[in-house]
Amino acid sequence: MNPNILILGAPGAGKGTQSEKIVDEFGVEHVTTGDALRANKQMDISHLDLEYDTPGEYMDQGELVPDEVVNEIVDKALSEADGYVLDGYPRNLDQAEHLSNITDLDVVLYLDVDEDVLVSRLTGRRVCEECGATYHVDFNPPEEEGVCDECGGDLYQREDDSEETARERIRVYDENTQPVVEFYDESGELARIDGEQTPDEVWTDVKATIEDRA
Ligand code: AP5
Ligand code: MG
Ligand code: ZN
Repeated sequence: MNPNILILGAPGAGKGTQSEKIVDEFGVEHVTTGDALRANKQMDISHLDLEYDTPGEYMDQGELVPDEVVNEIVDKALSEADGYVLDGYPRNLDQAEHLSNITDLDVVLYLDVDEDVLVSRLTGRRVCEECGATYHVDFNPPEEEGVCDECGGDLYQREDDSEETARERIRVYDENTQPVVEFYDESGELARIDGEQTPDEVWTDVKATIEDRA
């Protein structure tokens, strides 16, 4: 049985970066609501009669997509996975409760990064449009500018990585998701990792924690 891993952290904390390594090392699925929603930004959700009719309208403003939409994505992805690293969910206490009803977690990781570091990580991020690999123009540049080291694909900047939207995402995180971190901390499950180290140093701690707990 592969482990069920939850990775928590603010926007830009390094969840996606570390999840790629967890997938390679532990053979689990990367279940990420952000990527799933980005692939379905134009999906018609008008039948739910909510504020907006597509996920993209929430995302481009840095707001949370409604729970009904996100819970359904997670239900399906987790039921099909033999071990997973869950990234981007739960983002509020209702989602955390939903998660506790559908699965058991072996490891809960929290990447601890100070807020003033996050904005520069987000505005400098570049993502491969072919394979999804993540780079940073200063902290983790590709060998050739604009080109993925892994697959040669073109790199692009996410629409929600403008400075204004990045700041709003961090505000939404503080309000909605910080209580989720406290919830897992109080239950004694949370493994806090210093996310301000280099990506390789963070990985050393992440790997050791999973091996220890799973
Ligand atoms: P999502 O895609 O989940 O975005 P996020 O939580 O804001 O997180 P990021 O992907 O921005 O950060 P990350 O921690 O993965 O950092 P990364 O590894 O890339 O969600 C997007 C939107 O979708 C939300 O705003 C919302 O609208 C919607 N959504 C998603 N899930 C939802 C849910 N459950 N409920 C409701 N709505 C939902 O790293 C960032 C940068 O830093 C990169 O450039 C990287 O190279 C660099 N970096 C990484 N590690 C280091 C390091 N150690 N040192 C220096 N640089 C580093
Ligand atoms: Mg991410
Ligand atoms: Zn690539």
